[in-house]
Amino acid sequence: MKKYNIITYGCQMNEHDSENIAGILEAMGYEHEENAYKADVVVINTCSVRENADKRFFGVLGQFKKIRTKNPDFILCVCGCMPQQPRIVEKINKQFSWVDIVFGTQNIAEFPHLLEKRIGTGRKQRSIIDNNPVIDEDEMKPKRMYEHKALVNITYGCNNFCTYCIVPYTRGREKSRVMSEIVREIECLAADGVKEVMLLGQNVDSYRDPAGHDFADLIHAVNEIDGIIRIRFMTSHPKDISDKMIDCFRTCDKLCHNIHLPLQSGSDRVLKRMNRHYDTARYLEIVEKLRNACPDITMSTDIIVGFPGETEEDFEGTLDMARRVRYDSAFTFIYSPREGTPAATFTDQIPDEITHRRFDRLVDVMNDISLEKNLEYKGKTYDVLVEGVSKNAEDTYAGRTDGFKLVNFTSDKSPDEIIGTMVRVEITESKTFSLEGREVL
Ligand code: SAH
Ligand code: SF4
Ligand code: F3S
Repeated sequence: MKKYNIITYGCQMNEHDSENIAGILEAMGYEHEENAYKADVVVINTCSVRENADKRFFGVLGQFKKIRTKNPDFILCVCGCMPQQPRIVEKINKQFSWVDIVFGTQNIAEFPHLLEKRIGTGRKQRSIIDNNPVIDEDEMKPKRMYEHKALVNITYGCNNFCTYCIVPYTRGREKSRVMSEIVREIECLAADGVKEVMLLGQNVDSYRDPAGHDFADLIHAVNEIDGIIRIRFMTSHPKDISDKMIDCFRTCDKLCHNIHLPLQSGSDRVLKRMNRHYDTARYLEIVEKLRNACPDITMSTDIIVGFPGETEEDFEGTLDMARRVRYDSAFTFIYSPREGTPAATFTDQIPDEITHRRFDRLVDVMNDISLEKNLEYKGKTYDVLVEGVSKNAEDTYAGRTDGFKLVNFTSDKSPDEIIGTMVRVEITESKTFSLEGREVL
């Protein structure tokens, strides 16, 4: 049997695309191989959101060159957000011309034909589509990473054009899937043993299907599906989140008490230059409404440090927002200029040294708050949906609370017995990024 391996970078959209690509390869008779260097077909699903993602990709590509030279039957495929940019495809064709297949984010369904053509003719295949209006999710049979939880696309693309961001250029214009089709997909997932769904979109709050259903309607519909016990979603945009959506935290019992609400900056001036369409006052108002609707809601965020023109005062604003909101966790990023985005042409780029110092200060503030929040969990007992064996130690399991806290815990049960089930865990130790505990029966 021929073997495949997929290397995935980037966000959950890419993770889900990789699940679909794995499904395609298995339907073609390929078998998964853990070690990418031993596979017959390797797919690199790329991300381009920051420059280090680009660098890493070209490094990995170089490593496959030797294998490709030694074994003419080995097939290397590149897909995802990088090849959606013409300059990247040019670079691949010039410097890495031995890459066998290149396709994009919007023509994954074409992959089987490209692979067959490559095998049949021995010729390299390149196929990128820019703004595909057809959503072919229904034809996909993803091979899920987890048995009990699933990623479900609700929108594709992005129309927001934040001035720093490459995504609108790599994923095309925003399209919402029809609500009834999403519901049908989740019903099938539930019948297949899935308990938790993560609804995915670059901006889930702008979901609107042709019949006029909005994101809150969708959550209500998913809340009715038997077998599903947890609903999560990602990502919310403060400019579009509605009171109707916030109210779902009161009315939909399966909606997890957790939200990822990117702030990006705590300076109104910077937010404006980022084209985010909200200010800090509006953001704080949303946080208050969320906490009123759902007092134990946990919150995470994304923040960019060193956006062009960011002054010390702007940055202090970000620290101030971090302290006011008190996030459970935060993804902090150093601003990375992306070719083709407006911010990359701004003339007031911040020197690396200043950005790095600010970044370290922000991380310190965020981590202190995360630990303080996690300490509140110690001694209490929570429902944990078990994801698998813990990465840290053989005899412990890892799972998530409703609020998305990662818990590593001990249990006498065997992996087969416990993975994918909900258990009660008493928290015995709190760390900055995780909790520790033991199962209580
Ligand atoms: N659609 C989501 C985010 C997608 S990208 C949203 O709007 O929130 C994930 C995160 O990467 C962003 O929230 C942002 O914080 C960060 N990011 C995007 N472009 C970046 C860039 N050029 N430099 C640094 N961080 C960036
Ligand atoms: Fe990028 Fe902004 Fe779209 Fe998020 S909303 S994907 S940050 S352009
Ligand atoms: Fe990266 Fe594309 Fe996602 S650029 S973050 S993989 S949408």
